[in-house]
Amino acid sequence: MKILIPCFLCLHTALAQVSNNSLPAIVKKTNGSYSFLVDGKPFIVLGAQLWNSSAWPSVLEKTWPQLKELGCNTLEAPVYWQNIEPEPGKYNFKELDYLVNGARKQGLRLILLWFASFKNGSSQYPPEWVLTQPSRYPRMKNSGGEEMLILSTVAQANIDADKKAFAAMMRHLKETDGNQHTVIMVQVQNEAGSLGTDRDYSEAAENIFKKKVPVELTQSLKAKDGTWKESFGPQAAEIFSAWHLAKYINDVALAGKKEYDLPMYVNAWPREHGFQRPGEYPSGGPVSTMLDIWKLAAPSIALIAVDIYLGNYSTFNDLCKKYNRPDNPLFIPEMGKGPDFARNQFYALGNYNAIGVATYGIDPFHADPNDERNKERLDDKFAYFKDNYRLLKGALEKIAELQGSGKLQAVTEDYGLREQVVQAGNYDILFSYGYPTYKANKSLLTGRALIGQLAEDEFLIIGFDTKFQIKPRYDSGFSAAEFIIVEEGYYEKEKWIQTRIWNGDEVWHSTLTPEGVILKIKLRKTKKNPGAPLKANFE
Ligand code: DGJ
Repeated sequence: MKILIPCFLCLHTALAQVSNNSLPAIVKKTNGSYSFLVDGKPFIVLGAQLWNSSAWPSVLEKTWPQLKELGCNTLEAPVYWQNIEPEPGKYNFKELDYLVNGARKQGLRLILLWFASFKNGSSQYPPEWVLTQPSRYPRMKNSGGEEMLILSTVAQANIDADKKAFAAMMRHLKETDGNQHTVIMVQVQNEAGSLGTDRDYSEAAENIFKKKVPVELTQSLKAKDGTWKESFGPQAAEIFSAWHLAKYINDVALAGKKEYDLPMYVNAWPREHGFQRPGEYPSGGPVSTMLDIWKLAAPSIALIAVDIYLGNYSTFNDLCKKYNRPDNPLFIPEMGKGPDFARNQFYALGNYNAIGVATYGIDPFHADPNDERNKERLDDKFAYFKDNYRLLKGALEKIAELQGSGKLQAVTEDYGLREQVVQAGNYDILFSYGYPTYKANKSLLTGRALIGQLAEDEFLIIGFDTKFQIKPRYDSGFSAAEFIIVEEGYYEKEKWIQTRIWNGDEVWHSTLTPEGVILKIKLRKTKKNPGAPLKANFE
């Protein structure tokens, strides 16, 4: 995989080096943010993830139309080790082939989720022949000495078994999809870690825990040399777990990449809820406080993603900030449903350069007795995602281009948040919410917009249910902004397609509609009588 092409002058130079049929890759742009290149072009995942037990032909057959209705460009689907290798060394790719062929037919890209040694802080997905032989495939023990349904990360037999199966799957993928790139990325395990124990207390793990910490780790964390306890004190258990888990998963990823070099990532069950203690969330997983350790121990992992089910503004933004780092692009492979998350997608893309966002539980075949979903059509909870994806697709390449340039921002309505002003170049743009005033359900907070600066006096505003007013900056020496032209339209690849021009009443109201709209706005700053009050455009 071509991660981090280090020294190119700009993204376009990088693109010139990456031909149309080159492998999907995550590359660093000169502005320090990242681009996910698919068939040589920047790609933003507008995704949806299946429920855990839904990557089967019987479910997918009924789900394809709903994915079409949603308008996602990528499906995230699990691949189960227990189904891929029902007997040691005997592989079954029937369901995987159906999935890949089906997605290709639908014009969808796929992200495969390797549900194998670890899934949600436990080990439910290894095949029967692994789970029934703990003496051969050792389990973790908790501090009370009880064996857990979690494979031990210090057991080479576990690593080897997972590696072998994963490598076989990647080999098969290369043979069947190596030219088409329907599969663009692979998640190695799912929310890995140990739930219910801060670390492995099995005899084998205890022996390692009593030994000295590897020097590369103490050096990198600037910790003193010694045993795990001596070096890391109260954090020793979690750091021990993170180090061994990251190395385990790195080994698996590397074995797969040797067969077929797709970008690989891991996803975190974040620690930012409850008492925030390891074991309450999967200990050793790539949580925000363990990222440096993961980066050191897992160099074959292109990025560490974060699953976000907490829709409140502050936690969502906090997590985006923590995972959008110079050494890590933000990707949110799972998030909740409903308008809060649909709004938050704008923050992820506009303020934190996310290479992708996806909502979880898209198909209506979750075997949940409380799930009253209509099985025949897309659930209403996804209506806002459907709107987002339809609108964002009209400017996706432009958004990808603007990410990381400092010329892209997001605003969204929120509880108690009636307005936001953003500084964009020499202008202040004030967004106010609660519009349009005829909005039937005012308690649904749907206002959301991306603001891109295309040139000194030219802006792109993409969004829903928000009024905008523009003034030159207070200290710019100008007092008012004239709309020279306000075009509604969309991009077809690089080309802007104008569908109409807004003027008169539409410009007077300057309100983004409930269906969503992309506006390209050209402004002119004017200097009025210096004593006159400063007015926004629409007054
Ligand atoms: C997060 C996990 O990653 C998913 O696989 C799923 O279990 C959801 N939680 C909850 O439904």
